[in-house]
Amino acid sequence: MIGTNIGIDLGTTSVIAFIEGRGVVLNEPSAVAYDKNNNIVGIGKRAYAMLEKNHEGIRVVKPLVHGVVSDFTATKQMVQYFISKVCKNAVFKPNVIACVPSMVTGLEKRTILELITQAGAAKACLIEEPLAASLGAGLRNDRPKGVMIVDIGGGTTDVAVITMGCIAVSKSSHSAGNALSEAIIRYMRTERDIIIGMKTAEEIKIRIGSALLRDVEIGLTKAGKYYLTKMPASFEISSTETFLAMKPVLDDIVETIRAVLEETPPELAADILDSGIVLTGGGALLRNIDRMIENKTGIKTRVAADPVNCVALGMGDAFEHIDILSQNGYVFRAFEEIGGYNPRREE
Ligand SMILES: Nc1ncnc2c1ncn2[C@@H]1O[C@H](COP(=O)(O)OP(=O)(O)OP(=O)(O)O)[C@@H](O)[C@H]1O
Ligand SMILES: [Mg+2]
Repeated sequence: MIGTNIGIDLGTTSVIAFIEGRGVVLNEPSAVAYDKNNNIVGIGKRAYAMLEKNHEGIRVVKPLVHGVVSDFTATKQMVQYFISKVCKNAVFKPNVIACVPSMVTGLEKRTILELITQAGAAKACLIEEPLAASLGAGLRNDRPKGVMIVDIGGGTTDVAVITMGCIAVSKSSHSAGNALSEAIIRYMRTERDIIIGMKTAEEIKIRIGSALLRDVEIGLTKAGKYYLTKMPASFEISSTETFLAMKPVLDDIVETIRAVLEETPPELAADILDSGIVLTGGGALLRNIDRMIENKTGIKTRVAADPVNCVALGMGDAFEHIDILSQNGYVFRAFEEIGGYNPRREE
């Protein structure tokens, strides 16, 4: 194929781009900011800085929800901007591999293909996020042997068993990084009568959160607003409170893993018992999440090296082994080929 080969991990929280031969070249929040006249005033980092701090004249959009496009125009503008940023001075349009959660519909796939080719790609190809994550985690697996990947992103947790270069069993759940932060917001509102924003909740999760109760309790002082008086409030939250707030979401992640294991054929399940579970995505950085999953499933669990970049790195690996990709039915399509594309054939 002529042109630069780019992998775009189009995530709910962040967009990460990989260029063949150069590695990961971009990691920016998935956000677009508009003024009152719908002119773009920021994309990526600039837009994220305005999120929850904007005034009435500015609207900040998070264009993907649970890994799928919720605002077509904003996603297209964001992809267009990122493609032009990483492909400065390129003569030919790039070829793009992008990822989608494992459970998306054919229509959602078609929407993303259309969007990427409209945003400046010569040809585009979609692969499932957990498959890309497995490649990025160094688990390229074109043999008949089962491996299990749990990709915990911002909007979705994707659990998949992969064998012979393809997904054999998979499930997605909305219990992922954002749901963990939202659980902290809910806890503060219902138990402490304090309102906090998403950025504060994320910071609490990252700084003192843990998937297992900490042996030694620690605390963090942050600020929000009293619900009743609406006045600014400084408060302290403990690691135990954070754990209790997040527990139902963590339990649901384990349930999704169990549900996939239940549907996994016995020979592949035996392989997983041997090779273990590999965690990827930003959510894999939550303290002790590997130990918690190992305790609850009885299967040894580890966090991949560089879990945040696994999906983007995996798309780089896919470009290097494009023969395996095409053997498994993953094809690149130009914009004009998508018109005749029947998504039902892919399901
Ligand atoms: N150190 C950390 N501890 C806990 N959570 C973290 C940490 N670092 C990042 N996260 C969380 O990881 C999530 C983002 O992960 P990631 O970048 O993989 O998501 P995404 O790919 O954009 O989303 P999706 O795949 O669901 O579309 C956020 O919820 C963020 O709060
Ligand atoms: Mg992701």
